[in-house]
Amino acid sequence: MSEVRRFENIIVKKEGNIGWIVLNRPHRLNAMTIELLNELSTALDEFEADGDVRCIIITGAGDRAFSVGADVTSFSSLTPVTAVEASSKGQEVISKIEKISKPVIAAINGYALGGGLELALACDFRIASETSQLGQPEIKLGIIPGWGGTQRLPRIIGLAKAKELIMLGDRITADEALRIGLVHKVVQVDRFKEEVKAFARKLAEGPPIALKCAKYALNLGVQASLEAGLRIEAEAFGMVISSKDVIEGITAFFEKRKPEFKGE
Ligand code: COA
Repeated sequence: MSEVRRFENIIVKKEGNIGWIVLNRPHRLNAMTIELLNELSTALDEFEADGDVRCIIITGAGDRAFSVGADVTSFSSLTPVTAVEASSKGQEVISKIEKISKPVIAAINGYALGGGLELALACDFRIASETSQLGQPEIKLGIIPGWGGTQRLPRIIGLAKAKELIMLGDRITADEALRIGLVHKVVQVDRFKEEVKAFARKLAEGPPIALKCAKYALNLGVQASLEAGLRIEAEAFGMVISSKDVIEGITAFFEKRKPEFKGE
């Protein structure tokens, strides 16, 4: 694995065509500061621009947490105006994950709480280690989620369950998260990294343009009317059909071999 470049609060590495972003404040269970958010934003931009990177994994440093959310030490000085700015900033960086053209996996290796879960919600896939705990505990601090939780959580698990998680604030286990459709997969701790990498490799071998168009149509379509969503799908389908990868995919199918997609 090669380190791309040094940051203060995250580690950014490349392993083949997989890009890793590791939230790196383990002494604070990877709680996120404004500095960390800025670095995350830069790393996402750089991976988006890097043609070698075909799948991105976001995870937490250490063995206790993915992230416990916003660093609450800064909360006491917030005014209504700066709180709106802080909420908008987190929303903007986290939304970038959805807009990025490559698949993004949240590798949840422990607590994914508050903004940590909100970050994971914007990822395309969530894989959790079996000892992970997930939740939106903000209500217990007298606040509400501010980085997209009230909006993305009901879109993923439905309004009823989202109300339970956000309005009671209790943490749930990885198995419960799997049961309610919050995570895609739960993996034993000792198999975690390997399973996440295998999942990422599968995505990285996929056709990049089709993956980009599928992500675009899914993410945009889910916010639109069915009619508008079907139009989005038709136009995305039109964009994919002109790619060389389609020829490769169909040729490989008839030649009974594995396709080699180049993203062209
Ligand atoms: N912001 C800043 N620091 C945080 C933090 C946060 N969101 N969550 C944990 N920390 C810090 C703790 O203050 C502690 O620092 P210290 O060692 O200097 O005292 C360190 O991380 C370890 O946490 P600690 O609470 O001692 O670990 P624990 O095993 O007893 O509990 C949690 C772990 C995750 C259950 C607990 O830390 C927690 O509930 N954190 C808050 C999560 C939250 O409400 N997130 C939403 C924020 S809006």
